Amino acid sequence: MKRVFSGMQPTGNLHLGNYIGALKQFIPLQEEAECFFCIVDLHALTVPRDPDDLRKRSLELAGIYLGAGLDPDKSNLFIQSHNPDHSEGAWLLQCVARMGELGRMTQFKDKGKGSESVTAGLFTYPVLMATDILLYQADTVPVGEDQTQHLELTRDLAERFNREYDEVFTLPHAQVTKTGARIMGLDNPEKKMSKSADSTFNQIGLLDDPDTVVKKFKRAVTDSENVIAYDPENKPGVSNLLGIYSEMSGEPVDSLVEQYQGKGYGHLKLDTAEAVIQVLKPLQERYREVMDSGEVESVLAKGAQRAREVSAETLKNMQEAMGLVPRR
Ligand code: TYM
Repeated sequence: MKRVFSGMQPTGNLHLGNYIGALKQFIPLQEEAECFFCIVDLHALTVPRDPDDLRKRSLELAGIYLGAGLDPDKSNLFIQSHNPDHSEGAWLLQCVARMGELGRMTQFKDKGKGSESVTAGLFTYPVLMATDILLYQADTVPVGEDQTQHLELTRDLAERFNREYDEVFTLPHAQVTKTGARIMGLDNPEKKMSKSADSTFNQIGLLDDPDTVVKKFKRAVTDSENVIAYDPENKPGVSNLLGIYSEMSGEPVDSLVEQYQGKGYGHLKLDTAEAVIQVLKPLQERYREVMDSGEVESVLAKGAQRAREVSAETLKNMQEAMGLVPRR
């Protein structure tokens, strides 16, 4: 059976970009593959965090996974640190990765900004991510566009390992959607929507209430032409709204463009907000139910158990291929 792996960091407020670029893609994959969806708390440690906040957000992310429609009977949901194979496997792969290739990762360059005081974990972050994926022999990794460079590195490391040691790993590929791979900030459509943006008007939080959603869309930056067209390069604001609307409603972008000919941006903004509210409402209801039910911990325990069954086999093969003496 095909395997799917993806992960999200339990940091900041999860936003519409995370939903459209990644989470929304997870749901149908449950029907066709064995899926592992991870809460990557170890990745979150690569920049300083408040420990209580990290703990709280890790459980909240599990609630969001379930609220969005992940079914624990079909998918394995687990916390990365609950499976120590990730840390152990990452060490082995760090001994395969090269400083040069890690130094070229744009996410490291953006977050590290050349500073000497960033953590060593931030530098080796993509190796841990590669380990996450390779331990499960995943074929498909649903992600947003900002992770595709990490996926290329994952394939490079897998190929190198398979060549230099033994054929241990399946080569994974990224699954990236057409209109949803890079949702832009509402306050600045030249930059992607981001958890770490300064302004709350950058992003729609998955737990934002309807009034807040409408307020944020009303303030979304567009342009002064008042022409509705899909052209991400020249009309990034309007195109971003059309992309979000299309992803939320299931209507193709072309037909939305036709429908909105001659109408003002105000109209498009309000209808996009409404389409988003229609998706967030049931997600938030289920999220609250799940968080109140106390079932999150048992779902995560079951997920971690299945995760270990699969990862243990790969880790053993890695250790053996690299010349470590088997434990008795
Ligand atoms: P993270 O937590 O930053 O983001 C989670 C997912 O959301 C996607 N995403 C977006 N998609 C579209 N538009 C946006 N503006 C946007 N912002 C974020 C991300 O591409 C991602 O798919 N390194 C990963 C976590 C990770 C992982 C893995 C992912 C760790 N191990 C293994 C896949 C497989 C990250 O920081 O995602």
